[in-house]
Amino acid sequence: MPDRTPHAIPAPIAEMLMPMARRLVLHRRGSTVWQVHTERGEYAVKLGYSIEATAEWAAREWTARAPAREGVVLHDLGVGDVSYGAWEHGTWNVQPWHPGESLYDRWKPHRTGEATTEPDLREALSCAETLADLHSKGWVHGDVQPAHFILGPAKASLIDLALAHGGTIPERYAFPFTGCLVHYEAPEISQSVLNTGEAVPTTKADSYALGASLFISATGWRAVAYPDDASREEQRQAVVDGPHRPVNVPGILGKLIEQMLNPSPDDRPTPAEVCDALKAEL
Ligand SMILES: Nc1ncnc2c1ncn2[C@@H]1O[C@H](COP(=O)(O)OP(=O)(O)O)[C@@H](O)[C@H]1O
Ligand SMILES: [Mg+2]
Repeated sequence: MPDRTPHAIPAPIAEMLMPMARRLVLHRRGSTVWQVHTERGEYAVKLGYSIEATAEWAAREWTARAPAREGVVLHDLGVGDVSYGAWEHGTWNVQPWHPGESLYDRWKPHRTGEATTEPDLREALSCAETLADLHSKGWVHGDVQPAHFILGPAKASLIDLALAHGGTIPERYAFPFTGCLVHYEAPEISQSVLNTGEAVPTTKADSYALGASLFISATGWRAVAYPDDASREEQRQAVVDGPHRPVNVPGILGKLIEQMLNPSPDDRPTPAEVCDALKAEL
């Protein structure tokens, strides 16, 4: 396996940040993420690299470009204290660390049966707000999933903008959108990926992914049923064929999830509409 050992933070980045402490957050196919503590604050350091084909996986080149592409998006969005560039095996970015817990982790008690209350509507609202905010700035996320919502002390943040669409991306960092994690992929995206290998992310597909994210976080269920060992193609075909699982989440949250999972993109509420509906209940 070529990427068994996590990549260390390259020397020029370490010299720039002067980390006082560092923690490996994840190391997986094409991506290594570090959390670093510096005098100026906490940062995420993301290292991307291409992956070679194995018996199990096709080769992937775009993972090498993803961090710099995300850096471009973060700059366009006006996020401060972001830098990016190239390193030996691909590209990197440094961005402010968002303290908190992911939506998926926060709602774990609802999946294990330990919770005595329903999922917190204010937390659902924070997630919808950060997505609505992104859309209002002219960007589509493209990879909305429960691990990408970080519930902080005051608000939620939406991380991993490597696949976002909206502004101009320099050619050297660009790559086609070939879908996202299928559990959160809207049927029209899955259909397009099955047909052509590519798709165009949209705000409407982000709405679907928000619904699927809230649903799986609250219940543990994927929006559409398929076997754990189904291939990507089989997963996508199941999403296209539908229907989605019955939404067994009570109250307004369940109603909104059902609407966001609507197979017809035009009939899904926008994240801003989801916010309005949630606010009306609080
Ligand atoms: N800015 C950040 N603030 C807090 N956590 C982050 C940040 N960036 C990445 N992470 C953590 O690292 C994980 C992987 O980061 P992500 O941006 O999703 O990279 P990948 O491209 O590998 O999916 C996230 O799920 C989160 O736990
Ligand atoms: Mg990610």
